[in-house]
Amino acid sequence: MAYSDWWKKSVVYQVYPRSYQDSNGDGIGDLPGLTSRLPYIKDLGADVIWLNPIYKSPDKDNGYDISDYRSIQPAYGTMDDFDKMLQEAHVLGLKIIMDLVVNHTSDQNKWFQESKKSKDNPYRDYYIWRDPVDGHAPNNWGSYFNGSTWKFDETTGQYYLHLFADGQPDLNWENPQVRDEVWNVMRFWLDKGVDGFRMDVINLISKPAGLPDGPKAPNEKYADVGKVVADGPRLNEFLQEMNQKVLSKYDVMTVGEMPDSTPEDAIKYTGLDSHELHMVFQFDHVGLAGNADKRLGKWNDAPIKLVELKKSLSKWETELNGKGWNSLYWNNHDQPRAVSRFATDDPKYRVKAAKMLGTTLHMMQGTPYVYEGEELGMTNVHYTKLSQYEDLESLNAYHEFVDDEKIVDADSMLKYLSYKSRDNARTPMQWDENKNSGFTSGKPWFELNPNFKEINARDQIEDSKSVFSYYKKLIDLRHNSDLIVYGDYELLDPEEEQVFAYKRRYNDETLLVISNFTKEQVTRDYGQSKGKLLIGNYDDDLDMEIRPYESKVYLFR
Ligand code: GLC
Ligand code: CA
Repeated sequence: MAYSDWWKKSVVYQVYPRSYQDSNGDGIGDLPGLTSRLPYIKDLGADVIWLNPIYKSPDKDNGYDISDYRSIQPAYGTMDDFDKMLQEAHVLGLKIIMDLVVNHTSDQNKWFQESKKSKDNPYRDYYIWRDPVDGHAPNNWGSYFNGSTWKFDETTGQYYLHLFADGQPDLNWENPQVRDEVWNVMRFWLDKGVDGFRMDVINLISKPAGLPDGPKAPNEKYADVGKVVADGPRLNEFLQEMNQKVLSKYDVMTVGEMPDSTPEDAIKYTGLDSHELHMVFQFDHVGLAGNADKRLGKWNDAPIKLVELKKSLSKWETELNGKGWNSLYWNNHDQPRAVSRFATDDPKYRVKAAKMLGTTLHMMQGTPYVYEGEELGMTNVHYTKLSQYEDLESLNAYHEFVDDEKIVDADSMLKYLSYKSRDNARTPMQWDENKNSGFTSGKPWFELNPNFKEINARDQIEDSKSVFSYYKKLIDLRHNSDLIVYGDYELLDPEEEQVFAYKRRYNDETLLVISNFTKEQVTRDYGQSKGKLLIGNYDDDLDMEIRPYESKVYLFR
């Protein structure tokens, strides 16, 4: 069956439900809360909502540890609430894509509870169990969330594999029964009418045969597991099976989260003939920014290296052109806030900087993703105390490097976390200037960013010069332009250190995008004086003069 490419023309808005809108005063965002905010998302102009996990979960990793794939986390509401939300979204013309977390489950999942009972339990082979080797873990892999990827289980005297926290055991995709279970979970949600999936760390599902040790840097305790496991031997086969058995039967969109994958890999998964996925989330540009080194608690708070950022994003633009499809994002629930990270959250420039980043990304080829609050220019929260953090990745890293290995001092690590922690993105949505910013009438599960009086949706919706209004225009431009959706991409002046400029071409039209990533005014001539200004983040246009964080887009016909 042939489907149209609506997902190429769409803009996706990501909702982290826990922090979006509380409806019943328990301090936790929920589905009825989201339903009440759908008109806001519609007003912004988004086409699709990606919903972070809302399934039943002990919440060790905020929903990325699922104990029951077919029920709703009680704190988020009931299945009825979900159905209402979905129906309401569809009435408004919004699509909903779900987070599919199937590299691992929770250790509280019935499958794992059974699996660990005995070596001959029918579910034993749903997970990856190994005997100890010389009394130790079976190999040297280090978990994404620190420590070994193996946990010893007394009951049967074997270790199980967990690439993330020990409460997130990895499923054994080699087992065809596991794959069938996953297909059934997918059908369950698709038959309800959901419009696709964002697939969590989907390029980690096929483990290399024999689970060999990985290369280890001399002073590191464990091997970087991403380097050994990403894009494993049977990944294409598994994704094709998924497509053939499930996805091909529905007109839905799919995006695979793929740490450590390259443009060549992405072409394999998203290529026109691959019959796998529509697009991937790659990590190159977020890996570059800030030059973070977790082990050393190092964070380079000097401005990002623009030349590297330009090359990285442009490589994906040009290599996938005509062969695959890009997803475009600056941030999400795992990354610090875009404006703080890639530009500046200095109040003097914040609004300009947020619009500049939006322009730079939304004029590229690919499907743009807006993470809740990005459309307001929300910033990092910059916590100063460990007790303010919730996220287990941040807490684990602190305990391992500061307390156990003692390789970094507390102050440096706290500084690192204040730039880099995922919690920066997880503070509640800033709706208005009232108590708790309209997020909850109770006690919020997580402290709000104190800047909500200056940065909130209510102010911005009414203000034609706000970041929100500007994002609306960006989205509207894309909806009305094949040039923005399909045009070829060319980076201008790759070695230039302050300005990110590129062209897009489609039929007889050319688009020129110029963004100043610094707080200095510069003079640059890309031929803009001959073009027609489509959108810019200053009130007037000084032609060759590009002011601090200025961004402007010209059309040539
Ligand atoms: C993905 C999710 C992240 C989660 C991890 C483990 O990277 O985006 O939030 O912690 O997978 O599921
Ligand atoms: Ca609630």
